[in-house]
Amino acid sequence: MSDRLIIFDTTLRDGEQSPGASMTREEKLRIAKQLEKLRVDVIEAGFAASSNGDFECVRAIAETIKDSTVCSLSRAFDRDISRAAEAVKNAKRPRIHTFIATSELHMREKLRMSAEQVFEQAKSAVRYARQFTDDVEFSPEDGSRSDIDFLCRVIEAVISEGARTINIADTVGYGVPELFGNLVRTLRQRVPNSDKAVWSVHCHNDLGMAVANSLAGVMAGARQVECTINGLGERAGNTSLEEIVMAVKTRRDFFKLDLGIDTTQIVPASRLVSGITGFVVQPNKAVVGANAFAHASGIHQDGVLKNRDTYEIMKAEDVGWSTNKIVLGKLSGRTAFKQRLQELGIVLESETDLNAAFVRFKDLADRKAEIFDEDLHALVSDQAVQQEAREHIALVAMSQRSETGEQPHAEVTIRVDGKEFKSESSGNGPVDATLRAIEAQVKSAAEMTLYSVNAITGGTEAQGEVTVRLTKAGRIVNGVGADPDIVVASAKAYISALNKLHDKTERVDAQRDAI
Ligand code: KIV
Ligand code: ZN
Repeated sequence: MSDRLIIFDTTLRDGEQSPGASMTREEKLRIAKQLEKLRVDVIEAGFAASSNGDFECVRAIAETIKDSTVCSLSRAFDRDISRAAEAVKNAKRPRIHTFIATSELHMREKLRMSAEQVFEQAKSAVRYARQFTDDVEFSPEDGSRSDIDFLCRVIEAVISEGARTINIADTVGYGVPELFGNLVRTLRQRVPNSDKAVWSVHCHNDLGMAVANSLAGVMAGARQVECTINGLGERAGNTSLEEIVMAVKTRRDFFKLDLGIDTTQIVPASRLVSGITGFVVQPNKAVVGANAFAHASGIHQDGVLKNRDTYEIMKAEDVGWSTNKIVLGKLSGRTAFKQRLQELGIVLESETDLNAAFVRFKDLADRKAEIFDEDLHALVSDQAVQQEAREHIALVAMSQRSETGEQPHAEVTIRVDGKEFKSESSGNGPVDATLRAIEAQVKSAAEMTLYSVNAITGGTEAQGEVTVRLTKAGRIVNGVGADPDIVVASAKAYISALNKLHDKTERVDAQRDAI
C-alpha cells in the first residue's frame, strides 16, 4: 500500500454547493491557481454538465493548471460524461469523476431505480468514461448508508470496468469514525479486485465528524481524502483540507504518510476562499482561525516565551501566517508594492491590473497608516470583484448624514450598465439608509438574509470586510466588500451581491436531480 496521501480538493465543486458560495469564472481560476500553489494533487474544478458557465470554468481551469490533476464531476450517464470529458480534455492530467447513489433510500426515493438498474448504470458509466481518459473515479453516493453486499458488487464491477479511484461518500455526514473506518476496511477486504484502485473518502460534516471520519478511513487504507478549504461544502460542509493536512503532517509519527502539500500556502488559500465566497472563518477554527495560534492565558504565554513547544504543536509560519505583519504605508512605492504582492503569491494578470491595484493601494494608504498583508488580499479581491462588475452595477459616489436624534440619510450615485443614477433614502442607520438608496434605484426586490462585518486586522483603524447575502427566487448569493469605512464596505458588498444575482446562470444540482 502506498504511503502517500492524495489530497483531492473539491472547494470549486462541493464547496460551491454551499448556499451563496457560487463563484464566477475568474474567481474560480484564482482559487484554482492558489490550489496549484498549495500543491493539491487533484482539483475538482466543477460539474461541467450543470451549466454552460460551469463547463467554461472547468475548461478554463483544465487549460491553465499544469501541476495538479483537473477533474470534473459527472452523473452516471453518457451526456454528463461527454460534457465532463470535453471540459477536461486539455488538462495535462484529466480525470472524470462519476457517481450514482447506492443506498436503498436514494435509489428508491430519488433515482426511482432498482438496484439492478443502478448496478448496470454504474458499470456503463465507468466504461464510457474510460473511453476519454484512464483516470476515472467512481463514487457510490450515500455509500455509508448503503447495503454492504450491494456496495461490494457495484465496486467490484466498476473496478473491472476501469475505475482507478473508488470514493466512499458519507454524503449526509451520518458516519461515526469507528464504523466508517470499518466500512472502508471491510470493503477493501471483501472486494476481490480492491488492490486495482486507490480508495478514497468523501465525508460531510453534519455531525462535526467529517475530519475524524476521513482519518478513520485513512487508517483503514484510504489513500485519497476529498476535502475543501475552510471545510466549505453542502450544508455543514466537507472535511476541511487544512485540518486533514496538518493532522497527517503533525502526527506523522502515527499516520506515517507523506503529503505533497506546501503547507505555507494554507492560510493564503483560506483567506482567498473566504474573501471570494464571503464565508467568514470563525476565529477559533483550527489552523486557519485568527485565534488558532493566539495564547491568551498568562500561564500559556509564559510557557511559549520559554519554549514554544510547551503549548504549540505546529508553527504559525508553517501554515502561512505571516510573521512580517506591517508591510507597507503611504510612502511605499510601486516596486515595494509589487514585491509584496509577489511574496504573498498574488499574481495580477497584466500591467494594467497592477497599475489599477497600485492606485487603489495609494488611495487606501492615504486613509490608513499601516497596510497589512490582509489589507492587500482584500484590496486585490475587491478589485477583481469590481472589474467583473464593470458591465453592470458600480458604485460611483456616496455620502450619508447621521446625527443624534435625527434619522440617518444617504445619497448614492451608482452606474448601471454605463449610465449614472443618483438616489437617496433614510434608514435606521447609515448602512441601512445607504443600502436602501441603492435598492431604490436597482429595485432588485431581493431579501437580505445575512449582513456581517468583520475587521480585517485588529483595532479601529482596520478595514471592515462586509458580507451581504441576498436571496431571490430560490437563488442565494453572497457579496463581499472591504473598506476602512464600513458604510462604503457595505455598499460595495451589496453591489457585489446584486451583480451576482444579475448573472442568471442556471445550474443543474448534482445531488438533488433524479436521473
Ligand atoms: O457528497 C457526495 O456524495 C458527493 C459525491 C458526488 C461524491 O459530493
Ligand atoms: Zn459531497
